Amino acid sequence: MDAHAAAADPSVADLIAARPHLAMHPFDGLVLEDVPLNAIADALGTPVWVYGAGTIRARLAALTAALAGVGAQVHYAVKANDHLAVLRLMAQGGAGADVVSAGELARARRAGIPPDCIVFSGVGKTVAEIAAALSEGIAQINIESAAELDMVAAVAARLDRVAKVALRINPDVDAGTHAKITTGRAENKFGIACAEAAALYARAAALPGVAPVGIALHIGSQILSLAPYRAAYARAAELVRTLRAAGHSVRRVDCGGGIGIGYRDEPGAAPDAFAGTLRQAFAGLEVELMVEPGRWLVGPAGLLLASVVLSKGGERFVVLDAAMNDLVRPAMYDAWHAIVPLAAARAAGAVAAVDVVGPVCESGDTFARARALPRLAAGDRVAILDAGAYGAVMSSTYNARPLAPIALVDGGNWAVVRARQDVHDLWRGESVPEFLDRPDR
Ligand code: LLP
Repeated sequence: MDAHAAAADPSVADLIAARPHLAMHPFDGLVLEDVPLNAIADALGTPVWVYGAGTIRARLAALTAALAGVGAQVHYAVKANDHLAVLRLMAQGGAGADVVSAGELARARRAGIPPDCIVFSGVGKTVAEIAAALSEGIAQINIESAAELDMVAAVAARLDRVAKVALRINPDVDAGTHAKITTGRAENKFGIACAEAAALYARAAALPGVAPVGIALHIGSQILSLAPYRAAYARAAELVRTLRAAGHSVRRVDCGGGIGIGYRDEPGAAPDAFAGTLRQAFAGLEVELMVEPGRWLVGPAGLLLASVVLSKGGERFVVLDAAMNDLVRPAMYDAWHAIVPLAAARAAGAVAAVDVVGPVCESGDTFARARALPRLAAGDRVAILDAGAYGAVMSSTYNARPLAPIALVDGGNWAVVRARQDVHDLWRGESVPEFLDRPDR
């Protein structure tokens, strides 16, 4: 292996073995569920996203089963992957939705998630968004500040509705995750300080048009240790006791999301262990529990297929036709995503350390640095794994690169569920004002 290789990257065989939805067939190459990924790349070109419906169903069923033991309801965090087909799978699997915008609310409704299974989170809901949520009659609005409580009360009064609200507290706990995706520290913009929560709950209880149903918290994303959850939920349980002692009814605790997955060779969080943490933290309180997982349900179920355009720098750089505009996680969070060749013969080859980059004009457009990979030649295809969460939803058209298509695999079938964006779509809605071309200017 090349001298600048990162310490012991997992082999292609190990990466595939750790992912039951993937297999390497000697002739067909990499297969997702029962569909050879080359067939999709042949039909749609690259880059292309592929999601596995069976994998999403299986993960939702596993998490739901683990949480059923503690009576916790799953509200899928739509932001992780808001494709209508993904949301339909969630609806069919009995999950509700956690939304953070009127757009996500509309998507969830469109996909068939009933309004009474939807909660609305987020620090900056606008009056229009609050009105949309109340008109739909959603289950709960998570209030993130005193100012927002007043806004919700005002909108509810105007629409003659009662807003069921939970107060999102900020437990000031370090989730031990990347700084850009930690949300439960005092310095983060989210939630209400625990010290202020009791007074605000009392205020909510007194306001007409607002009915406080409980509290909510979400401490961050890609959390692999249970310790931060234990600390945060202990604070939540303490607050429930304080509020009840003050005579308030506290029916529900929305425990947020954040359950991590294994991207490299670290084990992902286990649903049973997470459920055990909930059981311990809220034992004896008789609260309805809710969780808002996103990544854990869909992350492993999606991948991004790309082709090698060329190698350069004495084969140090492998340039793909996918870029940071497609999958921004490596550029934005230094995230590690497995990269696997589609062809069995390639996957079995000797490895060398390479930088896998995209064509965008930024050095940050790098999917992997000094990654131990089998030799790849122009035209070879690779799959960037575990890209089902915060993948396509975070894409942009930077460098005027149209959005990649999406295919959904289900058992042995597959379908295009989003067409490749046409270059003309890039300037739809734009215009050049006539006065720019006036000769007299
Ligand atoms: N609930 C709330 C209020 C949230 O803010 C989030 C995620 C979730 C639930 C779902 O968290 P999950 O279970 O997916 O970890 N783009 C970043 C992740 C940002 C997460 C934002 N909030 C990434 O690619 O890692």
